Amino acid sequence: MYKILKKEILNPDVELMKIEAPLLSKNTKAGHFMILRTNKDSERIPLTIVKNDERSITIIYQKLGFSTLELSQKNQGEYIEDVVGPLGKAKTINYHQRILAVAGGVGAAPLYPQIKAYKDLGCQIDLIIGAKDKEHLILLSEYQEICNHVYICTDDGSLGRKGFVTSVMKDLLEKEHYDLSIIIGPLIMMKNSALLTQEKNIETEVSLNPIMIDGTGMCGNCRVSIHGKNYFACVDGPDFNADGIDFDELIHRQNYYKNEEHQCRMKLGN
Ligand code: FES
Repeated sequence: MYKILKKEILNPDVELMKIEAPLLSKNTKAGHFMILRTNKDSERIPLTIVKNDERSITIIYQKLGFSTLELSQKNQGEYIEDVVGPLGKAKTINYHQRILAVAGGVGAAPLYPQIKAYKDLGCQIDLIIGAKDKEHLILLSEYQEICNHVYICTDDGSLGRKGFVTSVMKDLLEKEHYDLSIIIGPLIMMKNSALLTQEKNIETEVSLNPIMIDGTGMCGNCRVSIHGKNYFACVDGPDFNADGIDFDELIHRQNYYKNEEHQCRMKLGN
């Protein structure tokens, strides 16, 4: 059992938990994720480890489906059934002079450990961060500490520029040069943002979060098509070069279990 050391509500949809897990925290590197089960009979939830220290890991999750709503019912001082990890490939962090990072919604959470690792190498990082409104922007002060420039946009204009991250990207890419772009957010946002950076021949990486079950390459659920070849996000990723990813197939597959999710949420009264 794993103790919840801290729980913080970041906004009405997103929460942070710090969980005591010394073995996992010692072995986690940027790009790794973990799978947790809230209770014995719960579904497994894959989540990026946003921060880790000597004894604990920090996760950030969006209360989107049945399982994350169930996790949200746990409080500080209570216990989670189990955690497995680190899973996935640790990210290869090489020096790039200038990096354009782009975060959409809760994608700001998995992006953070990568940006922190690049910053520790001395890279110069500009960030475009977008959310539906001011309240849903997360980790803003953490990013402001490590990035050279932080460009904010919100769908409703409540903070920063009104509109999507792609509008800011278009302007920025006209006047600035970047060696690498890392984009994490909803699939449609990653697809459209990657088109813009690829047009400028900027190496572009995204992080994929398809439906996962075992997290060890056995079940095939997290299949991703890249240039017509199959990869598994849990063992080959979750970070991939954006070139050749079939985003449309991923978007289609992500909607497979919408009805079942809805029915489960009803059970929890959401
Ligand atoms: Fe089963 Fe990746 S989660 S193969």
